[in-house]
Amino acid sequence: MALRLDKYLTEAGIGTRSEVKKLIKAKQITVNGAIVNRPEEKVDEENDVVCLRGEPVRYASFEYYLLHKPAGCVSATEDARHRTVMDYLTDTARSDLFPVGRLDIDTEGLLLITNDGALAHDLLSPARHIEKTYFAKVRGRVTQEDVNLFEKGVDIGEKKLTKPGRLVILDVYGEPDVPEDGEVISEITLTITEGKFHQVKRMFAAVGKEVLYLKRLSMGPLVLPEDLRPGEYRALSGEEVAMLKNRKQEEYDE
Ligand code: URA
Repeated sequence: MALRLDKYLTEAGIGTRSEVKKLIKAKQITVNGAIVNRPEEKVDEENDVVCLRGEPVRYASFEYYLLHKPAGCVSATEDARHRTVMDYLTDTARSDLFPVGRLDIDTEGLLLITNDGALAHDLLSPARHIEKTYFAKVRGRVTQEDVNLFEKGVDIGEKKLTKPGRLVILDVYGEPDVPEDGEVISEITLTITEGKFHQVKRMFAAVGKEVLYLKRLSMGPLVLPEDLRPGEYRALSGEEVAMLKNRKQEEYDE
């Protein structure tokens, strides 16, 4: 597919439309070795080599990254007060990347970052029941009764109960001898197919418990790699992107 040279350069993050037009007019841009001075000249982003002052321009139509979001940053592209998840992506070709959905400021874990609006829209669509699995430390003893309640769906103050959640109790610390400070902490995983605001925290609040620590382990076919530390990111493999796209149809209702 061909696109205008000025659009190509803007999308590659070289500058605004007017800035790149100036660079083109100033003969700073070559396409396949030849100076091009018309912003409307078409370039083939797959095959043409575009250089700025002799250096090849890095262009990608779509980029997909998996970030291990650390606590303390917000899932937004800009924020007046806090660091954003975008601050951690230091080496990308595109400047129009954004996080797909949100994790709370104190939540860690897997976050997909892309500029593929269609895929993002699709992954976030409520009609698509994409599974998200979280690990959490919860104050108090999570019980089999909670497992059963989550399986039916709980009332988090929305019109309907939540969709069923798969709750697995991994460990309960502080029992059977409750320590002096009375602190019992449960470690669990919870798999849900919706993405309501503060959903995991609200589901536990609905059964009278407080989430102390929350980390997303997976989203659909994407799994947080064990060797990716908080604040680190990596590009998705072609296979991971294909899996995210191919699973689209199967996951719809009907
Ligand atoms: N549920 C929450 O409560 N918080 C998150 O960040 C994600 C899911």
